[in-house]
Formats: sequence, C-alpha cells, structure tokens
Amino acid sequence: MSVVDEIKARLDIVDVIGAYVPLKRSGKNYKALCPFHQEKTPSFIVFPETQTWHCFGACHTGGDIFTFIMKREGVDFSTALRLLAERAGITLAEAEEDTAAQLRERLREMHAAAAAYYQDILQRHPEAQAARDYLRRRGLRAETLQAFQIGYALNRWDGLLTYLHRLGYTEEEMVQGGLVIRQENGRVYDRFRGRVMFPIHDPQGRVVAFAGRVLDQGEPKYLNSPQTPIFDKKRTLYGYAQAVPAIREHGEVVVVEGYTDVLSAHQAGFRHIVASMGTALTTSHLRLLARHARRIILALDADTAGIQAALRGIDVAREALAHEVVPMITPTGAVRFTTTLGVDLRILRLPTGKDPDDVLREAPETWRHLVQGAIPVLDFYLDHITNTVDIHTPQGKQEAVQLFAPLLREVDNATLRDHYLQQLARLLRIDERALAQDIWHTSVPPRPMPKHPTSARPAQKRTDLERYLVAYLLRWPHLLKRLGEHLQRLGQPELRLEELHDVRHRLILQVLLTLLIGGNLSTVEDILTELPSEVAPYVQELMRQAATLPQISEPVALQEIVATLLRLRLQRTREAAYQMRYLMEEAEQQGDRPLLLTYGVQLRNLLHTIRDLERLLPAITAGY
Ligand code: UTP
Ligand code: MN
Repeated sequence: MSVVDEIKARLDIVDVIGAYVPLKRSGKNYKALCPFHQEKTPSFIVFPETQTWHCFGACHTGGDIFTFIMKREGVDFSTALRLLAERAGITLAEAEEDTAAQLRERLREMHAAAAAYYQDILQRHPEAQAARDYLRRRGLRAETLQAFQIGYALNRWDGLLTYLHRLGYTEEEMVQGGLVIRQENGRVYDRFRGRVMFPIHDPQGRVVAFAGRVLDQGEPKYLNSPQTPIFDKKRTLYGYAQAVPAIREHGEVVVVEGYTDVLSAHQAGFRHIVASMGTALTTSHLRLLARHARRIILALDADTAGIQAALRGIDVAREALAHEVVPMITPTGAVRFTTTLGVDLRILRLPTGKDPDDVLREAPETWRHLVQGAIPVLDFYLDHITNTVDIHTPQGKQEAVQLFAPLLREVDNATLRDHYLQQLARLLRIDERALAQDIWHTSVPPRPMPKHPTSARPAQKRTDLERYLVAYLLRWPHLLKRLGEHLQRLGQPELRLEELHDVRHRLILQVLLTLLIGGNLSTVEDILTELPSEVAPYVQELMRQAATLPQISEPVALQEIVATLLRLRLQRTREAAYQMRYLMEEAEQQGDRPLLLTYGVQLRNLLHTIRDLERLLPAITAGY
C-alpha cells in the first residue's frame, strides 16, 4: 500500500474534518456550515461511506481528506501529506513503513497463490475425493464453491510448503503469513492439512487468511489463520467482499456466525450476508457494515451464552468505550452505535438448536421470514430483561430498571427515548414519571463525547467512476483539449479540478493540463516527473490499467470519457439529493419553515440536474 493509501486507511474523514468544523450527524452522513464560504444553513456534507466531502452550496466543490486540508490550511499537497501522515502516526522519511507495506503486499500475493493452489487440488486431485464428496453431501454447488474460492489442503506436511517454495516464497514469509508453522527445532510444516479450505478475504476482496474445516470429527473443527500483518479477526468479516453489491442493493446486511451459513445463504440467492467467524462483534465490524447498510441484522442463537454474555457487558460498557479503541460490541455500545451512525440495528432470533445453514437448507422461505421478523435491538433487550427478571416483585422491577437504564440513556432521540420509557413503565406497571426520575436523576457519570474510533480502518473503496475517468484520460490525454467543447455542446459545464475527489486524480489532471497547454506532453509518462513521488506508484498502477482498456477509436474514447464524467456527476447529484431530503425532514421536524424553503429550492435544482443528466446519458451511450 502506498503512503497515501495508508493514510486514507488510517484516518477517518469525520475525525479529520471534525477537528476543524463542528459536524452534526444527518442520516448516514454529517453536515456543517461550509468552512469555505459564508452561509447560514449547512450545505457542507461529509460522506463517511466514500470518505469524501462536498459543499453543494455556493462552492460546488468537494474532495477527500487531502484536498480538505490543502484548501483549509492553504497548503500544497506535500505539506498536506506531511500533516496527515503525522496525524496518522506514519513517519514519512523512514523507509520502515515502506518495508512493512511491501511485506504486506508480498503476503497478500502469497495468499492469492495459496488459494489458487488449494482450489486446484479440490477440483482435480485424486486425494481430494473425500472432500468433494463431503461438500456435495452438504449441498454446496460448484458455482458457490467457485465464488468463495473453496479449496482443499492435502493431508501432507509439505504440500503448500513445496508449492510456495517453487514460487520463490521464503520460509520466513510463509511463517509470517501463518500458512506454515515453525517448530522449536526449526522444522517447518504446513499449518493446514487434510482440511477443506475457506479463504478469508479483506474488504477489497484479496485473500488474507484461511480457515480449514476437518472432514470428519476432529479438533478443532475449524482451524483459522493466526493474527498476521494482513489479518486481524477483529476487523474482518467473512464474505464481506462478496456481499457488498447485495448489501448496497438492499441497504441491509445480516450477520451470522459461520462460514457455511454464508455459503448456504449465497446459494439460496440471499447474498447480503457476512459471518463474524465465531468471534464477538466489534465496533470495527459494525462500522465496516454501516458503510453500505442502513440496517444491520444480527442473527443470534435463541438460547446461547452469547446473549447472556452480551447482557453482562452492560456495566463495563461505558468504561470500555472510553478507553479502548475497538471495544467488543456491548448492549450500550450497540445502542450508542445505532444512534451515532443512524443505523437500524436488529436482532434475529434463530430457532433453538438450528443455525442459518440448517434453516436455509430446510426452508429458504423460513429464513426470509426470520429476517423480516428481526426486531430492533432495544426491543430485544427490553424483551430479554423483562423475561429473565421476575418483574412482579419490587426487587425485580428495580433490577429491570437498572439493567435497562444505561441503554435508555444512550438514546439521543427524544421520540425513541419516550417510546421505550413508556414501554418499560407499562411492562413493570410503574409510573412513567417516577421511572424517568429514576433513570435520569440518579448520578450518571457524564457521557463521553461520541467519538469515532480512529484506529486503522480498512482502506476505503475509491470512487470507481472517477478512477475510470482518469484512466481514460491517461490513455487518451490529448482528448482533454476536445472535452470542453464537447461538454459545451451538451449544455454541460466544463470539467473542473474540484470535481475529482481523490487528491491523486486531481494532481494528475492538473499536471496533464499544464503539460498539454505548454505543449510539453510527448508521452503520458512525462507526468510522472511532475508529480510528487508519493503518488507515483498509484499513477503507475493506473497507467498499467489504462493500457488494458479496450482498443477503441478516438471519437468513441471521447464519448466514453464524456459518458463517464456525466455518470459521475449523476451519482454525486443523486447522493446530494438524498442528503437534501434528509435535511428537509430534519427542518420539518424542527418546524423551521425558512430553512425548509431554502433546502426545497436546493433540492429542486438538484432534481433538475438529475433529470438533465438522465436525459443526456442514454443519448450519449446509444452510439455503441
Ligand atoms: P459452529 O460450530 O456453529 O460451526 O461455529 P458451523 O459454522 O455451523 O460449521 P459447520 O456447519 O459445522 O461446518 C460457528 C463459527 O465459529 C467459528 C467458525 O467461524 C464457525 O463457522 N469456529 C467454530 C472456529 O473458528 N473454530 C472452531 O473450531 C469452531
Ligand atoms: Mn453449521
């Protein structure tokens, strides 16, 4: 990973910008008064999902953390880089970071090779017959196994070892990646032997670890990769990369425990599902999911220790949240999470003794029913508390109040809070006002500011359209000169630097334009000498990708560039309109008429733009 990626992965835009301007949550995004122009109503929005910001007031500008710092501090890219690197705890000068990044890259390549190796064995090795039979017995089809790159490790001490050796990987690398174990006496051997192999992918879809399941009885049932430089169980969810498109589509995700639960669900066409791999959920997990899902549904065993353990966490929750970067999700943590991120967190109670895999194979429609019947996390806890405590005795009532109070205090929405207060009062048959008194007027330590965990988050997804657009421009740079008139003919504004949110894209475009105007661009490689060295690896990679773009004529390429730009504009404007509706709802709730009107005008403009773009796009793409 390059240093720019590393910084983007470590810092959350909400924290970076939040240090300059007070941000207020608004739906899944954050809003503020724009720091770059005078305004009375917020039109500056931060999008955690894409890690970008945008002002759709007077500025019409946006970007990532780098462009924010550059604009706000009035500094150039290298100064912004230095400032942010410092904040992210990365030492720029030291080659150390570079070596660590190189090692991670190497380990990921090794894992890709290992996954291919295991997969190949499952598909054709004679000694994998038992594994093939086993998977067939479990009802898993070839395309499902393919989608998850399922494989098999031969029952040998040196199957993978020999293979990776031949590919040039060192023992040290294999050990560091957790694929091979080194004994005290220095002897090395394969960690996974005679097991069905489940590759575990990072959010970008790269294999970073494995789980191996025994075929028959045996301990452990699943053997997992250890913690390595590229694998952290607390931040990884099984099946996430495969699920993202479906999570986006449904705005919802279901979290189960097991690998095979995910496979079965996928096979049944239920693709917005991930597995926690048997560990407790962390806030890291939830934040990863909240990027694409408005609703997160946790599937819990009806009767397990899981629920009990979660409830016992109540008392320590506050403490844990104050001190730890990535606490396990506790009930109060869960409730706080739903209110700070505006996520609808629900609990799905599984039938006793069954896991999702069982349900899905017996009756997929039952599964869908269960998902639909999932209940909001507060109802779940309220149910649970009132069912496990004897609420007919005064002591029981008191205990129930004590258990539920910390949860209620986390709810920062008055309507919701009142609703649950009433519920609890009714269930306990006590006076609502007395209850409120009990809950809020007992001495409560001041609530810490809701803070964003800033620790290393996985690298965010880049805006693909933007990247695609820049790749095209790298392949056909001189078309930039003709882009302007083309856009003008369509009644579209020119391409502006500010439209590119990723700072690297902006730098590329800037250099391209400068060289073009000066007549100094002979080959596109020339831009490399003009760009800061920190972005060079990224640009080179993008150039390599640009070189693989299909061979098309220049007029077609120009059309493609225009279409991509318009799609990008459409995507952004839709997002803005979505946000605007949210702001209007808020204004309406507060009974603020003038504000409502201001936003109404803005929304109308956005909808106009959307309509125009939608009308233009089919006409442009019709040609091919
Ligand atoms: P389960 O024991 O419920 O297994 O563990 P499962 O997913 O239903 O697996 P099958 O259907 O028997 O094959 C749930 C999850 O806990 C983790 C795994 O992620 C598993 O999918 N686990 C379980 C381990 O990591 N190691 C183990 O030894 C057992
Ligand atoms: Mn199972």
